[in-house]
Amino acid sequence: MDKILVRGGHRLEGEVVVSGSKNAALPILISSLLTSDICEYHHVPDLMDIHTTLKLLAGLGVRVEKVQSAAGGMDLLLQAETITNLRAVYDLVKTMRASFLVLGPLLARFGEARVSTPGGCAIGARPVNLHLKGLAQMGAKIERVHGYVEASAKKLKGARIYLDLPSVGATENLMMAATLAEGKTIIENAAKEPEIEDLGAALIKMGAKINGCGADIVTIDGVDRLHGAKHDVIPDRIEAGTFMVAAALTGGDVFVQGARADHLDAFLFKLREAGAELSVREGGIRVKGNDRAGSVDITTLPYPGFPTDLQAQMMVLMSVAGGVSVITETIFENRFMHALELNRMGADIRLEGNRAIVRGVENLSGAPVMATDLRASVSLVLAGLLARSETEISRVYHLDRGYEHIEKKLSKVGADIKRVKA
Ligand code: UD1
Repeated sequence: MDKILVRGGHRLEGEVVVSGSKNAALPILISSLLTSDICEYHHVPDLMDIHTTLKLLAGLGVRVEKVQSAAGGMDLLLQAETITNLRAVYDLVKTMRASFLVLGPLLARFGEARVSTPGGCAIGARPVNLHLKGLAQMGAKIERVHGYVEASAKKLKGARIYLDLPSVGATENLMMAATLAEGKTIIENAAKEPEIEDLGAALIKMGAKINGCGADIVTIDGVDRLHGAKHDVIPDRIEAGTFMVAAALTGGDVFVQGARADHLDAFLFKLREAGAELSVREGGIRVKGNDRAGSVDITTLPYPGFPTDLQAQMMVLMSVAGGVSVITETIFENRFMHALELNRMGADIRLEGNRAIVRGVENLSGAPVMATDLRASVSLVLAGLLARSETEISRVYHLDRGYEHIEKKLSKVGADIKRVKA
């Protein structure tokens, strides 16, 4: 298995370009199942979860045409004209939970689907009850058999659905299903993440009638059929935030091209509070770090609150800040695995349930560490950028799931980082 080696102590300087959003691209690619026409997608990031999605879609019978884009990432043509299989198998769903999002579109267009349930993962139980409850309210018959969800409905019917939690995945699955249902669906307490808005924008281009994407209440008027469309995926706000922390952490000066301030409000607020100098420019955000960050308290919340996907990265910054900070994780039950690895690098982090008490230390020191999930692994890369001596990160397949050529992007702005092939 590949490893990443980082030698810290270099100030990052220059410009880094943000890729297309992984979490927006995943449901958008899956939404191509809703039509037999060709869908054209641009600015799709070239990373493992996207390749898993393409494999999943190809396995269902979707025709996939890939063009490496000159602007970075991939341009894709997808056509779900002849669907030969209505089953998403465990092997794919277990490697990427977002595979479960094929359930809504397959059910809505073909009247049945058989999708493996994802099970737990490194950061918690992550059930899919809200996806299933919503589909059942739309008239689907749902059975759980041998680890699979078997769903059927001659025709889904619009319904009023209240989500107990504003789940991103459930909102996306139900929104897609509702586009082809009979009548009006109202999703209350819907997730409001920018990725939901982007999925909504792509669906509207396909002819869907959706109102309120990005708000608490999303209304969808079902139509008989959707058509092909062309869509550009939004920039990845989590990747952008990760680079911004890297700049702040190394006292650097980096222009993060593609970073959108309107998608990163709570995060930018906290980064500023920690002492970073931010200037929002046309096409991106410039970040200047200072000698030492100040400590800030952070609580992760559904959007527009502070994103759980940037919690691990901010913990690295806080681990060398001047003071004590309290980081509270409210979205996932087990998302502090990186804290234990950071402690091995000299950080002083104490865990108390869903709170981490981070006492800033002067510096970190390199160590062999292990990635446990996507965002935890990138936090170890960040720690490595700062640490004296070498940090060796193993299990980097977690990193490859969600970051496009991260070592190349970081070396371009001055980091000493390389990948060692197995
Ligand atoms: C998505 C993102 C992930 C991000 C997360 C929260 C993608 C591919 N992944 O994950 O990067 O960290 O949003 O911003 O977009 N829950 C239930 N029942 C359900 C569904 C969810 O209890 O049916 C709970 C989950 O266990 C979790 C919380 O709701 O505690 C939020 O999960 P959700 O918003 O669904 O996250 P994902 O869509 O899985």
